[in-house]
Amino acid sequence: MPSVSRRELLLGSAGAVSAFAAGGLAAKGFAATDSAEHILRLSNQDHSILPGTLTRDMMSFLPDAPPPVLRMRQGQKVAIDVINDLDEPTVVHWHGLRIPNRMDGVPYLTQYPIETGQSFRYEFTPPDAGTFWYHPHCNTLEQIARGLTGIMVVEEPEDIGFDQDLPLNIRDFRLGGDGQFIAFSKPRNAARGGTLGTVSTVNWQKEPVYELQAGSLVRLRLAVTDLTRVGTYELEGGEARVIAIDSHPLPKPLPAKDLVLSPGQRADIALKVPDQDGETVKLFLRRANGDRLLATFSAAGQSVRRDLKELKPLPPNPVPEPDLANAEVIDFVFGWSPEGDAPQASICGSLGYTFWSINRVAWPGDKPGPFDPLATMKLGKSYVLRLRNESPNAHPIHLHGVSFKLLRSNKRTLPPLVTDTALLLKDETMEVALVADNPGDWAFHCHVIEHQKTGLAGFLRIE
Ligand code: C2O
Ligand code: CU
Ligand code: CU
Repeated sequence: MPSVSRRELLLGSAGAVSAFAAGGLAAKGFAATDSAEHILRLSNQDHSILPGTLTRDMMSFLPDAPPPVLRMRQGQKVAIDVINDLDEPTVVHWHGLRIPNRMDGVPYLTQYPIETGQSFRYEFTPPDAGTFWYHPHCNTLEQIARGLTGIMVVEEPEDIGFDQDLPLNIRDFRLGGDGQFIAFSKPRNAARGGTLGTVSTVNWQKEPVYELQAGSLVRLRLAVTDLTRVGTYELEGGEARVIAIDSHPLPKPLPAKDLVLSPGQRADIALKVPDQDGETVKLFLRRANGDRLLATFSAAGQSVRRDLKELKPLPPNPVPEPDLANAEVIDFVFGWSPEGDAPQASICGSLGYTFWSINRVAWPGDKPGPFDPLATMKLGKSYVLRLRNESPNAHPIHLHGVSFKLLRSNKRTLPPLVTDTALLLKDETMEVALVADNPGDWAFHCHVIEHQKTGLAGFLRIE
């Protein structure tokens, strides 16, 4: 791929970078541009996460700011120049977007890693509207742990009626008391539920306070971009409804309570800000050992007296309906890795262990193949994937390139969701259905990154 000089890039699309305004957003208008060109420049930076300390060697997509919100429009072509100023290779993946395989950002499967000083131009047309996110897929554990997770918003063509749109990038960092990174992973955790961070943040801030116009309608876009945490989220105060999960509108909105989101998942919440100046709404992470405040939304000014009923329903995305009567069933089992698996080094990072497998095969690492797909599906045909978890840990199972519909589980009633990431509980068997309408090799893995990097990964082929 041709490498573009920085100067060319800067001259070519000056002003295309969308910077996220940290802290209070203007009460009206959006925080980022929706230009059809973006530049992401990946580099190390020092940033203050804990008050009074600078966390060294964080990684971001902009030289002097947290990851920007990328805004684009459904059905409108977009170009994103990724410039790698890190001192290691990377690739960037657009989580949840059903785009051509060569733009999917998976090392060796869809492209070569972008070396230091090189760039890669991603070009695609987002087919679905909603809340998505982006992150590296090379040395994924460390690059995500150091900060490389950002939100992508694909706007519906029509105005839904919100006064404001507020993306919330929810994740932890693993910091010691001195504000510096501590070991991202511990083998004993990687073999169980994963290693949790120590500091919870929203948009790289601890317990931020957002001032919102009193009485206005705000679209909160929650994206859980954490490496590990399966969390229960809840809004307290105001009037709020969950209107979409994982970019897809819910047929019936749900209360913003007991909302379980695993790594990689998103929820769009319609919030009516309280009418009273100074009144607050709080976002909590519910935990057995004490709830944790994540963010506060504070009503400001004279109420504009909007009502949730004034919002238009979100239009459904054009995901094809699987033909269940003629669908072939494919079985997958998620469990321990077979004994004797040797860890394999890779320029995209290896933890040095394999603990996990799909269909008894531990993914050997992100390195040059060829590797065999876990399954091959015929272009245009419908399939039921039967996902069986034989381990005592939960796994958010993520498929690239194609969205799937939840059908049934042996443990619970599933909502009729269309998604790209489904949480598979301990001992659960879940059936999901899809139309194999996007050709290519699509990564299929657990989104607890320590599981992904210790074997619980592979890919499905559509041809
Ligand atoms: Cu969100 Cu394969 O990733
Ligand atoms: Cu993905
Ligand atoms: Cu897992």
